[in-house]
Amino acid sequence: MSAYDLQVTTVADSPLVRAARRKSVPHTPVWFMRQAGRSLPEYKRVREGIAMLDSCMRPDLVTEITLQPVRRHGVDAAIFFSDIVVPLKAVGVDLDIVPGVGPVIAEPVRTRADVERIPELTPDAVSYVTEAVRLLVAELGPTPLIGFAGAPFTLASYLVEGGPSKNHEKTKALMHGDPELWDALCARLAQISGTFLRVQAQAGAAVVQLFDSWVGALQRRDYVRFALPHSTAALAAVADLDVPRIHFGVGTGELLPLMGTAGADVVGVDYRVELGDAIERLGPEYAVQGNLDPALLFAPWEALAARVEDIVTAGRAAGGHIFNLGHGVLPTTDPGVLTRVVEHVHEISQRE
Ligand code: CP3
Repeated sequence: MSAYDLQVTTVADSPLVRAARRKSVPHTPVWFMRQAGRSLPEYKRVREGIAMLDSCMRPDLVTEITLQPVRRHGVDAAIFFSDIVVPLKAVGVDLDIVPGVGPVIAEPVRTRADVERIPELTPDAVSYVTEAVRLLVAELGPTPLIGFAGAPFTLASYLVEGGPSKNHEKTKALMHGDPELWDALCARLAQISGTFLRVQAQAGAAVVQLFDSWVGALQRRDYVRFALPHSTAALAAVADLDVPRIHFGVGTGELLPLMGTAGADVVGVDYRVELGDAIERLGPEYAVQGNLDPALLFAPWEALAARVEDIVTAGRAAGGHIFNLGHGVLPTTDPGVLTRVVEHVHEISQRE
């Protein structure tokens, strides 16, 4: 711990929040998408015999799981343990998270009547989220908690396809075949995701991240017409609160500047784009987050450390840089390597 860390007494002054606001930092802040969960033995122990969605509704368990990677790795932020489909479950969509598969929807959404059956989300329907965030914020002290939600396109893809999809063919057929119905579905999803973000921010989350994991499947013009307005609406739900907004998707090299215009302070970059190129495409008005290839955590340390150094160096060209992976931690990752990456990022970014 450096002298500066000892002086950080508020979340607003934490390296993560400062980087998101493009202010100077004592070291490059680092956290990992999917840091809480499947890569940690202590996570597997507490989850034993408890279904994923059930665990998300238990504030004691959510608090413990969210804190595990903070204790173990010394990351600069916690991310709330939940799933992008939790708010859909909360409004009554019949869905399950099937181990090894992902979210599976009992009755896929394809018609006007299907869309009309999805109610708006009210904060009362996710009171367990409010409770867990409050518990967490009290435990975390000056370490910021990141709240999150899924973006309308990615949620719509699960709902329309009925589960995970490689080609998103039913989603694209609906989008192009009945744009009005598509907009009605996504407007409802923007309300649900926006409310889910707002609940977390109002309970004390210091930063929010909107995940549009599968939006890289769209061309630019389709992104502009069918996804961007709805992501903008979801992020607008927290615009009046003092929380920086991170926006991330996979395979989005073509979309990065557009994603920034959705209302992001920070644009998450996946590992397929060189960070320096992403910074050039985005320009100086955004901070960036990313973008180590999660598979490189399996490479020998020298190769991995060299790439970590390249990313930290490239990040200096941005107004703010939050070190992260280019997508989530893979299940078989050695957690010891993650800890070592955190230490390395902190050390090399302090050396000026
Ligand atoms: O770590 C774990 O795998 C255990 C818990 C778990 C989560 N989601 C946590 C999560 C499980 C079993 C799921 C199911 C699920 N939901 C999957 C994985 C299927 C599998 O078994 O591999 C997927 C792909 C989803 C849908 C989903 N959830 C997406 C697309 C996203 C956005 C992030 C991404 O990976 O693109 C999520 C968010 C999510 N799921 C988070 C967590 C803790 C929050 C974000 C984070 O921690 O970075």
